[in-house]
Amino acid sequence: MIRTSRHRRLLWPVALLALAGCSGPQSALDPAGVEAEEIATLFWQMLAGAGVIWTLVLGTAIYASRSDQRLWSERRALNMILWAGAIVPTLVLAGLLAHGLRLMPLLRAEGSDLRIEVAGERFWWRVTYLRDGLPSVVTANELRLPAGADVEVVLTTTDIIHSFWIPSISGKTDMIPGRTNRQMLRPTRPGIYRGACAEFCGSSHALMAMSAEVMAPDAFARWLEAEARPAVPSGARGEQVFLQNGCGACHAVRGISDGAAIGPDLTHLGSRHTVGAGILDNTPENIAHFVAHTEALKPGVRMPPYDMLPEDDLVALATWLGSLR
Ligand code: CUA
Repeated sequence: MIRTSRHRRLLWPVALLALAGCSGPQSALDPAGVEAEEIATLFWQMLAGAGVIWTLVLGTAIYASRSDQRLWSERRALNMILWAGAIVPTLVLAGLLAHGLRLMPLLRAEGSDLRIEVAGERFWWRVTYLRDGLPSVVTANELRLPAGADVEVVLTTTDIIHSFWIPSISGKTDMIPGRTNRQMLRPTRPGIYRGACAEFCGSSHALMAMSAEVMAPDAFARWLEAEARPAVPSGARGEQVFLQNGCGACHAVRGISDGAAIGPDLTHLGSRHTVGAGILDNTPENIAHFVAHTEALKPGVRMPPYDMLPEDDLVALATWLGSLR
């Protein structure tokens, strides 16, 4: 009696802990997009099917170990192997394959309301919004998507393989050098979700994330318009630190230092949710920390650590970058 109640008391936290993995901003089982919903449904169907098969196999094994085998004729045993070992598994797996293949056209791009190019870099994401008849808008490490729209994401990479994955919204698609892959995102529920690189790409693979914010369509339109605007020169000390230390050779801040495209575009850095491709919250302290310790925070990143900058310059630079909204 005592053992049972102790087991029950242990069971609840374990079950809750397991279920906690089913929700949140980066769960394929808590879908916020049409594709993710289909994938989650397929998962639950396969889990139910696997449960039925597991029960049958275990039941058969227990039955076989307990029954008197002399009662089985050779013909009956062969029939059992043929049906339970070959025909039924073939039918079940063929059914699951057909069901899975039926979902594939959904993931193919066919007509969209919005096109976004996403390029994999070491170790961050270059994001370009394409606009009809207007200049495209470049940003980094963050996607903003209008709820209810069909968004085509064009995926490329320059040197190493990555994989683009926002589990709450859709499945994953590899980014392969020399190839252009496409994925459809059809977000349904506003919120902030987390995406990650899903293919090992080097020392900072696990530090290559992004945020994806699904917004109401009018809020998205306002955001894109603001994002297209250049930064306004302010003459702030941080702006001078940026220009004097050659930051503009790699990073563009449109309106102040145009043209560079080696590192992420920083024009509206202050409005992003994270710093360093999803690894730190966006605060001036974290910007300063990242600039001074790039190699420690993100091994293998192309940007050298700027720990030689005097503390005041670093603070001024971070404050200015954080103010770019
Ligand atoms: Cu990029 Cu892993």
